[in-house]
Amino acid sequence: MFKVAVFVGSLRRESINRKFAKTLEKLGQPSFAFHYVELGDLPMYNDDLWADPPASVLRLKADIASADAVLFVTPEYNRSIPPVLKNAIDWATRPYGKNSWAGKPASIVGASPGVIGTAVAQEHLRYLATIIGLILMGQPEVYFSFKPGLVDENFEVTDETTRQFLESYLSRFEAWISRVGEPKEA
Ligand SMILES: Cc1cc2nc3c(=O)[nH]c(=O)nc-3n(C[C@H](O)[C@H](O)[C@H](O)COP(=O)(O)O)c2cc1C
Repeated sequence: MFKVAVFVGSLRRESINRKFAKTLEKLGQPSFAFHYVELGDLPMYNDDLWADPPASVLRLKADIASADAVLFVTPEYNRSIPPVLKNAIDWATRPYGKNSWAGKPASIVGASPGVIGTAVAQEHLRYLATIIGLILMGQPEVYFSFKPGLVDENFEVTDETTRQFLESYLSRFEAWISRVGEPKEA
């Protein structure tokens, strides 16, 4: 089983991206254990705060360190990524020389109410992911169009083709982590 640090780029209670993450979590059992990283209590990045680092920042770095892989589930905000996500990305790259992201297997997905939503945000995030040293899975791309009824109240996918696609995505992610991640202790 792989422990995955999940970064949902929305703080909204009814976030479709959080629902989508929960859907993937359910489909991915028992191969994955999802841990939802808290982003809402991170202060805006300020280098001065390293003098006495906030507990939320230390927790963020520990969450990444203890994970086998990282999964971003992000909405698109004005054709880019939401600020909560960028803020978390920046915090975890510091202090200089102690970048938490380096060498972690990662994947990016996103959900939107529209058809092509999150494509540009994901593209921006792919660029950042390589800069910060994540080992990013390129395929398959997942642009989840969150239509009413497609996911039920128990986070089950109601459409068979969509469910199969998401299962195959998760299998590929599992294989990616096995291939590029740190060897697991016996
Ligand atoms: C500030 C802001 C900017 C947005 N910009 C985009 C956008 O560029 N492209 C897009 O597809 N949707 C955009 N949306 C709509 C989001 O896709 C929609 O609100 C979605 O439900 C947000 O994800 P969430 O439900 O996980 O919070 C934007 C929403 C907000 C609040």
